Amino acid sequence: MHIFSQPSDVVAWRLSQQTCPIVLVPTMGALHRGHLELIREAKKTVGPHGRVIISIFVNPLQFDRALDLSSYPKPLKDDLALCEEEAVDAVFCPAEKSMYADGHSIQIHETLLSRGLCGATRPGHFSGVCTVVLKLFMITGCTAAVFGCKDFQQLAIIQRMIRDLNLPVKIIAYPTVRETDGLAMSSRNTRLTPSHRADAPRIYQSLTAAAPIHEVPQMISAAEKILLDGEITRIDYLEHVDAETLQPALNRTRPSVLAAAVYYDDVRLIDHIDLPAIH
Ligand code: PAJ
Repeated sequence: MHIFSQPSDVVAWRLSQQTCPIVLVPTMGALHRGHLELIREAKKTVGPHGRVIISIFVNPLQFDRALDLSSYPKPLKDDLALCEEEAVDAVFCPAEKSMYADGHSIQIHETLLSRGLCGATRPGHFSGVCTVVLKLFMITGCTAAVFGCKDFQQLAIIQRMIRDLNLPVKIIAYPTVRETDGLAMSSRNTRLTPSHRADAPRIYQSLTAAAPIHEVPQMISAAEKILLDGEITRIDYLEHVDAETLQPALNRTRPSVLAAAVYYDDVRLIDHIDLPAIH
């Protein structure tokens, strides 16, 4: 397994792979089973003659809170061991300085899908995500990349960036991987207190319990009631949006998404559920 810390070394490596397809799995590390399933999907997609590269980079550009950035777990040694176990071809784990030159002044701004949900409460977050993902696409020269549906707004925005900038990268979307109690796996789960961890399955429970309700206001109140009935410190948002435009949806005549972001103290967790159209 190659371990690269410099973008130029990754470029030299992929040029040496000639026409091999390359699949990228971009991550911020602290790898859990959700990430590992993405890696396995990448290996399956690329086949025996392709290459899989994982990036591990806690991208400062996408963090809106200094505490969230400084407390983000960084178990690089464990992550590399997991990548080795999964038999990936290469890992790219750059230092901040080698990704962002002093005085770097270009960023990618998505202007529509990133307005609501996480974009509304995390200013600059999706510009940071788009900028780093575009850089990772350029550096690795990947032909495809795997993203988790867990971050469905991120996935929609990356797909829009690919469409609007004509990027020759195929996106593979992988379903949300959950703990046995339903909590969506996240690198931030390890920062929950034991009591908050025990309470956190209510996030998904609130969404699944509300999903059968056809009237949107009642559906949102039902989910809200369950969210507020435990140890959640604050609801960041609980919204019902159109699955395609991500704009607020007042009814369920089109496929839609019920999405939540909540805080347990300073740990922010997100989850969502896809809802079919009801006619
Ligand atoms: P990170 O949170 O590390 O997630 C890396 C990838 O794993 C993303 O595509 C995310 O959607 C996926 N993922 C995380 N938890 C998952 C779960 N429980 N089930 C399925 N997939 C899951 O998302 C980022 O990093 C960053 O924003 C990044 C794209 C790397 C840009 O910095």
